[in-house]
Amino acid sequence: MKATAIANSNIAFVKYWGKKDEFSNLPMNPSISMTLDENLSTKTTVEFSDKYEEDVLILNSEKYSDSKLVRVSNFLDKMRKLSGVIYHAKVVSENSFPTGTGIASSASGFAALAAASSKALGLNLSDKELSGLARQGSGSACRSVYGGFVVWDDEFSIQFKDELFWPELRDILVIVDKDEKKISSRDAMKHTVQTSSLYKKRLQALLDIIRRVKAAIGSKDFQSLAHEIMNESDSLHACIKDTVPKVEYLNEASYRIIELVKKLNSVSTIAAYTFDAGPNAHIITLEQYVPGIKKEMLKLFGVQLIESRPGRGIRYSEEHLL
Ligand code: PMV
Repeated sequence: MKATAIANSNIAFVKYWGKKDEFSNLPMNPSISMTLDENLSTKTTVEFSDKYEEDVLILNSEKYSDSKLVRVSNFLDKMRKLSGVIYHAKVVSENSFPTGTGIASSASGFAALAAASSKALGLNLSDKELSGLARQGSGSACRSVYGGFVVWDDEFSIQFKDELFWPELRDILVIVDKDEKKISSRDAMKHTVQTSSLYKKRLQALLDIIRRVKAAIGSKDFQSLAHEIMNESDSLHACIKDTVPKVEYLNEASYRIIELVKKLNSVSTIAAYTFDAGPNAHIITLEQYVPGIKKEMLKLFGVQLIESRPGRGIRYSEEHLL
């Protein structure tokens, strides 16, 4: 009872922030993302067997017995319940990007885990069903089940356009901080929903924003898309700062990147910045601008860059990790 799956990370243009329900990760708001390519992926092998006395988690060659294992084990419990199989499992997982880069891998991680564990258990699930399962591991993971541009509104995600639709679009991840985030998105979201007054305004505006982002992607209107992406990132981080106790994910280097992108856009818009729950920036741009943007970023910070195009959804492999 063994299977291996690969899933890529995704970057949200309109971000999920807030849960309707703590246990099932149903979102307070719709989100839309671009699935990234193999440069930001996770490969996971899961084996269920009576030879394991407990669940085992090996991540990038390191054995975990902390909260990471608990989270994976809770997820495996859902899979066991669904299949009727009671065996414990060994999960071996590897990221394509270097470890210790501070990049969150829960989106690619839980999408790969949902796919590998359901295949290992012989459950023949549709992508829609897999997205519903991945969501329960980590909200943003449900969007990594599909390639290209993906919308998530409720229980499942759906593909809006596939990865071949806009092949010139690029994401440059600018790593400025390699530490794990100090406050989890789970906790920060909860506090924002409970205490931020800006958050209520954000929720009211989001349906229109999603509509505009879909229109910009559909017509490949980069300028409009870039403005929506930057406004959305600013709006989210304003809400996060408006939270009691105040949370701040961006650091000095993040603000320098924002300034640099504004400078690069002074003649015409060639790049958009967006930040998740951390200080590392994602720069969305077009293929033709990548060399110039990379050069500028490296000049300023000597940071680590990972470039990615619109990528595929989950796939399976016979080359197991165990
Ligand atoms: O998937 P989670 O629960 O780690 O939430 C991540 C939320 C953001 O990355 C900040 C936004 C998003 O939609 O991906």
